[in-house]
Amino acid sequence: MGIDKLGCYVPKTVLPLTTLAYARGVDPDKYTKGIGQVEMAIISPNEDVVTMAVEAAHTILDEADKASIDMVLFATETGLDYSKAAAIYALDGLGLPRSTRALELKQACYASTGAMFLAMDYVRAHPTKKVLVLSSDIAWYGFENAGEVTQGAGAIAMLISHNPRLGVISEGLKTVRNEKDFYRPLFSKVPLVDGKLSIECYTDMLKEVEDHQPHLYTCFHLPFANMAKKANSVLSYPMDEPHLNVVKELGSVVGNIYNGSLYLSLLSVLMHAQEDLTHHTLGMFAYGSGAMAEYFTITLQDNYMQGIHLDSLKSITEGRHRLSMDEYQTMMKHYESKEYASDIDLSDHVQPHQTFVLASISNGHRNYKKVK
Ligand code: COA
Repeated sequence: MGIDKLGCYVPKTVLPLTTLAYARGVDPDKYTKGIGQVEMAIISPNEDVVTMAVEAAHTILDEADKASIDMVLFATETGLDYSKAAAIYALDGLGLPRSTRALELKQACYASTGAMFLAMDYVRAHPTKKVLVLSSDIAWYGFENAGEVTQGAGAIAMLISHNPRLGVISEGLKTVRNEKDFYRPLFSKVPLVDGKLSIECYTDMLKEVEDHQPHLYTCFHLPFANMAKKANSVLSYPMDEPHLNVVKELGSVVGNIYNGSLYLSLLSVLMHAQEDLTHHTLGMFAYGSGAMAEYFTITLQDNYMQGIHLDSLKSITEGRHRLSMDEYQTMMKHYESKEYASDIDLSDHVQPHQTFVLASISNGHRNYKKVK
């Protein structure tokens, strides 16, 4: 049981963190060296968690995959609706069978990993079926606060199967605590964050569940790239610096994508490792504030690279538009007003790389459109 295919989508608009640093009167080295972030992805006007998830899934699914999917689990902490699951919009956008079960799951950045383990139990019971786990989030903290530098947006699509092409997942070791490091109560448009407490909970829980085995690579949930440095330093067998840099490379130019972040770190290793990783076992650590954590491993299979679409992954960092501060502020103001709009038309904003967009919202219902 494990991950058959793994895909990713990240918006093409990014804010360089040096631009943010100058605007906020901060030494750029704090953001680029201290926090380790170079750029962060910013959501475009006609995108949301559904469009990003559908774009991520498009990069990996063929017609045979689609026919075998029996369930879609959508992990997000950027919910669009208290009642209707984002999975229904995504399922419709992907043209999946009407017999598919569709659900949304929540536990901060951990829901994706929880969904993956539930999906593995499902394919254990139904070995001919596959489960699509979609993780999609927009990390938005508002302007001029400590969290502003650790934003991002993006989605991961994972196809879970009985005989996975990419990697076999081990049984996880999990732990849960009632913490108030990061949460978003109903009255607030942005999360309430105690970043220092969160780092403490993260590293404590990692120490509690890690497997005390040496691994060439251990992938981490990365709210910011240098979290990898802090996490690595508490492992029984820390990675050397070149390997650590591979684990955080993609995250450092994308930012925090919440539920997809651990799997972005895995993709970073698959794309940038110098070694052939066939039959290698990598460590994986998932953390979701509040707090839930799980440590597990993935053992890469023969031809594991067939489980990803390398060209689309390489294109994540190609042809990006680097925003000015004014553009960033306008886009995030638009994002907030769009998320709370009952009616809005977005049909003017289609970009060349997009295949699926949010065309409008009418009476709170989202209307999506295939544009390719
Ligand atoms: N040059 C180089 N490094 C510098 C620097 C400079 N001029 N100024 C500061 N730094 C370093 C600090 O030493 C620190 O490094 P360390 O953590 O290794 O000690 C790092 O930059 C960050 O500085 P700090 O003062 O801790 O930053 P902050 O108070 O602004 O907080 C976060 C940083 C990450 C805690 C904050 O951005 C945050 O809370 N983000 C949200 C995190 C989140 O989303 N968590 C979700 C749960 S996983």
